[in-house]
Parts: sequence; structure tokens; C-alpha cells
Amino acid sequence: MRVDRLEFRAGADQASLIPLAGKDFRGEAQMLSGNHISQHYGSAGLSQRIVSALRKAGKSLDSLTVEDLAPLDQFHTRGLAATRELVGFAGVKEGWRILDVGSGLGGPARVFASRMKCHVTGVDITKEFCDAASLLSTLTSLDDVTEFHHADATALPFDDAQFDLAFTMQVQMSIEDKERFYAEIFRVLRPGGRFAFQDIMSGPGGEIVLPVPWATRRDSSFLIALDELRAILNKRGFQVEKLDDISAEALTWRKQQPVAAGLAPSPLGLHIVMGEQFATMQSNQITNLEQHRVTYVRGVMIKPM
Ligand SMILES: C[S@@+](CC[C@H](N)C(=O)[O-])C[C@H]1O[C@@H](n2cnc3c(N)ncnc32)[C@H](O)[C@@H]1O
Repeated sequence: MRVDRLEFRAGADQASLIPLAGKDFRGEAQMLSGNHISQHYGSAGLSQRIVSALRKAGKSLDSLTVEDLAPLDQFHTRGLAATRELVGFAGVKEGWRILDVGSGLGGPARVFASRMKCHVTGVDITKEFCDAASLLSTLTSLDDVTEFHHADATALPFDDAQFDLAFTMQVQMSIEDKERFYAEIFRVLRPGGRFAFQDIMSGPGGEIVLPVPWATRRDSSFLIALDELRAILNKRGFQVEKLDDISAEALTWRKQQPVAAGLAPSPLGLHIVMGEQFATMQSNQITNLEQHRVTYVRGVMIKPM
């Protein structure tokens, strides 16, 4: 039934393929500051490209699963495995209200929602990603437990103390104003709430090799060192529960990907989202990891009671 609705709309107008477009909360100031990010990630016709890639890969749109989508909707190193691990690492409890900051195509939000019977609200600055995330939640019948808002993470459109958990997976590298980013997350968490993340920090090996998945230009990458991150989080009032370096696991995984062996990507992959340059971006991340130009970390912080 869901697919009929989708196809009916698609037949009338390609642009209305999206059944539940993400809600737009951005003010003009945020729209201007976020433009370079959404231009980097977004592209016209994304939802249509995803639907046709799924069909070409032989997936039935009537019975799509979180696992079916994982090659293209888990936009971070170690994909679905990393998201599942973060669910456990974060200490999520059933029924929690969760915020996914920089929710991308909604893959992590759907994993948290479906594994832990939680409601997950995603925010992302790339409109095409919010629209695709809403579509994919409808196609996986998870649209009642996930919702996606077009908004800037540094100006979250929520009242204080709304969420039990906020999480973010590989987003802050694009955000210059880190203090505001973490202050907003702190603000919307309830006292005792948790903040979990997987993220990329700068390493001791020097400037990164570009392009990388989050930037093609040096002035749109805002990596900081782990010590700087720790200082920002402490200053904001977070208590560190866990903070692990996961660079070795990240490098092992990256070297196992088809691109590392010079092979073509599988039919479903993030090249559908990011285009042909994605292969170079992935190879450069291997170099950046091998030469310690980046560090991957995973952490859990608590907002004190
Ligand atoms: C590498 S993708 C990760 C997406 C998702 N977290 C995942 O792991 O699948 C980075 C995401 O961060 C989003 N983003 C970057 N800066 C943002 C901001 N200021 N506010 C909201 N989203 C932002 C991008 O639009 C993009 O969807």
C-alpha cells in the first residue's frame, strides 16, 4: 500500500516522489551558513536515484529492511556494525526519546528506533537528505517511530530538556562553531540525559589529504584534536563516561571495502548519494588514517542531574 502511494505520486510528478518531506525549521541566517554543507552533500533527484538503485539491486520496495538499506544509508565508517555498537555503547533504554544530530539519510535513526522501541527525531541541514530519510522510513514502515527535520544543529528547533539521549555520527567535522554545536545538544537533553557519538578528530600526522567524504576544500573541514573536544565538552558541563580511540577498527574496515582493492562499488552504495568522487574520498581516508592525520573516537557523555 505504501508503495502504491509512492508510485502514484511519482507518476504524477517526479518531484513529489517523497511522501513525507522533512519539516523545515531553518531561519535565514542558518540557511546561509549551512549552504556550503548542503551543497556538498545534497543533489537534485536524490530520492529518485535511491529508489531506482534499490530496484536495480532487486530489492522489493514492499518489504525493505534496515539491513537492505545499510550500504547506502549508514553514512559513516563501519556502517551498520558501528551503529549497532553505538546503541549498546550508549546504554539506550526502551521507550527513550532520542535525537540524531546530523541524521543524514536516516539509517542510524532507524536502527536506534527499531532495536530499542524508541522514537527518534533526526535533524539535518541537507534538505535532500531529510526528504530521502522520510521516504526510506516510510518504505521500511518505520515512519511512525522516526521523524526528520530540516534544521541546523547549531540552532536546534526544540525546547530545553526534551530528549533522554542525543547521538551524532560523523557530523561535527563540518561544523566550525563547536561550542554552539555541543551547547545545543546539552540544552535539549534532560538532566541525567546521555550524549553518544562516533566522530573524526584531527590526528598528529598533519593536514588531511583532500577530498574526504565531508569536504573537498580545506576551508570546509573543521577537525579538532581529541583534547580540544574534551575541553569543550567539560566546559559545557558534560561528564565523560567513556571515550575510546577506534582508529584501528576504522582502518581495518576501510581496507576491507571494495574501493581499497580497486574494485567497483557494489550496486547499492554511497556513490549513489555522493557521485563518482566518493571512491577518491574513501581512498584518501585510508591514507589519512594510515598517516595518523585523523583519529576516530567513540564516546558517551552525561548531562549531570
Ligand atoms: C557524513 S554524514 C553522516 C550522516 C549520518 N549521521 C550517518 O552516519 O549516516 C554528515 C551529515 O551531517 C550533516 N550536517 C553537517 N553539518 C550540519 C549542521 N550544521 N546541521 C545539521 N546537519 C549537519 C550533513 O548534512 C550530513 O547529512
